[in-house]
Amino acid sequence: MRIGPYELSSTVLLAPMAGVTDRPFRQIARAFGAGLAASEMITSDVRLWSTKKTQRRMDHIGEPEPRVVQLAGAEPEALAEAARRNVDLGAQIIDINMGCPSKYVAVKQSGSALMRDLDHALTLIEATVGAATVPVTLKMRLGWDDASINAPELARRAEAAGVQMVTVHGRTRCQFYKGSADWEAVRAVRDAISIPLVVNGDIVTFDDADAARRASGADAVMIGRAAQGRPWLPGQIARYFATGERTAAPPLSVQLALICGLYEEMLEHHGLRIGLRHARKHLGWALDAAAASAGVALDTLKRWRANVLTSEDPVAARARLAEAFNAFGAAA
Ligand SMILES: Cc1cc2nc3c(=O)[nH]c(=O)nc-3n(C[C@H](O)[C@H](O)[C@H](O)COP(=O)(O)O)c2cc1C
Repeated sequence: MRIGPYELSSTVLLAPMAGVTDRPFRQIARAFGAGLAASEMITSDVRLWSTKKTQRRMDHIGEPEPRVVQLAGAEPEALAEAARRNVDLGAQIIDINMGCPSKYVAVKQSGSALMRDLDHALTLIEATVGAATVPVTLKMRLGWDDASINAPELARRAEAAGVQMVTVHGRTRCQFYKGSADWEAVRAVRDAISIPLVVNGDIVTFDDADAARRASGADAVMIGRAAQGRPWLPGQIARYFATGERTAAPPLSVQLALICGLYEEMLEHHGLRIGLRHARKHLGWALDAAAASAGVALDTLKRWRANVLTSEDPVAARARLAEAFNAFGAAA
C-alpha cells in the first residue's frame, strides 16, 4: 500500500492512542512490523506547544520513516500552520484527527465533532493539504450518531480535496467505545473512494483482522487497544496477511526484555516522575499479555499485578517484573 512516495512495509497499522503510543512504544511496534504508527494527537494551537507534553509528542528521534504526525484542531489557519511547522520538524505524513470522541476535543469542535459540519471539516482539510508539502491522511468515525452516518461523504470530499488515505473506526461518536465496531458499515466508504482505506475498531485476533478486511473491503487494518501490552501484535497480523502463518506471541523471555526496554526508554523520554506514571499502565498490560500467553490463572496474575505495580522504585519494579515473568514461566 502506498501513501504518496511511501510504500508501506505492511498493511497493519498501529492506532494513535494519546497517553499510550509515545515514541518508545511506536518504535517497538514498528520494529515488529507495524506498517505505520502515527504520533499521539498534537493540538494545532501552537501556543500550547511549549508544554513539555507537546514537545515530547513532537520528538521523532530515531523513528523509522515514514513519520506520521496527527493533528487535532478546529481552525483552518491554525491547522495549516501546525502542519507546516511539523513538516519542518520532520513529519513525513500529516494525519488529521476527526475520530476522537473525547469531550475535551469535541467541546473545542475538533476530533469527531467535526463530523457534524462537513463544510467546516472540508475547510480544515483543504487548509492542511494546501499547507503541507507532504501527504495528508484523515482518521474518522462512521458519523456523529446513527442518524448521521456521513463517513462516505466526508471521505469522498476529502479525497477530492487531496487526502491520500482514510481510516475509519467503525463506530459513531455517540457510541464512544460502547457496542462493537461495525466493519460492514465501512464498506460504504470503500465504495465512495479509490484512495487507500484502513478499517479500525475491535480488531484483536487474526480472524478479526480477516473479517474486518473482508467486511469493509479495506486495504489495511489499524489496531489500537489490542496492542497495549502486545506491541508485536500489528507485526504478527502483518505476517499473517503476508504468509498465512499464525505465529505465537514471543517467548516470555523476549516479552520481559521488551517491557524492561520500554520501561527504560519511557523513563528517559518522559523524565522520571511522568515516566513512572505512564509506564505503570504498560507494566500492567505487559503482565496481562504474559499471563495470557503462559495460561496463568487470574488470581495469580492479580497477585503479581499488585506486587509489581505498587513499586515506585524503577530498580525494584524491574526486579519484581522479572520475578513475575519467572513465576508465569514456571506455571506454564
Ligand atoms: C487511550 C486511547 C487514546 C486514543 N487517542 C487517540 C488519538 O490521539 N488520536 C486518534 O485519532 N484516536 C485516538 N484513539 C482512538 C484509537 O486510535 C482507535 O481509533 C480506537 O481505539 C479503536 O480502535 P481499537 O478498537 O483497535 O482500540 C484513542 C483510543 C484510546 C483507547
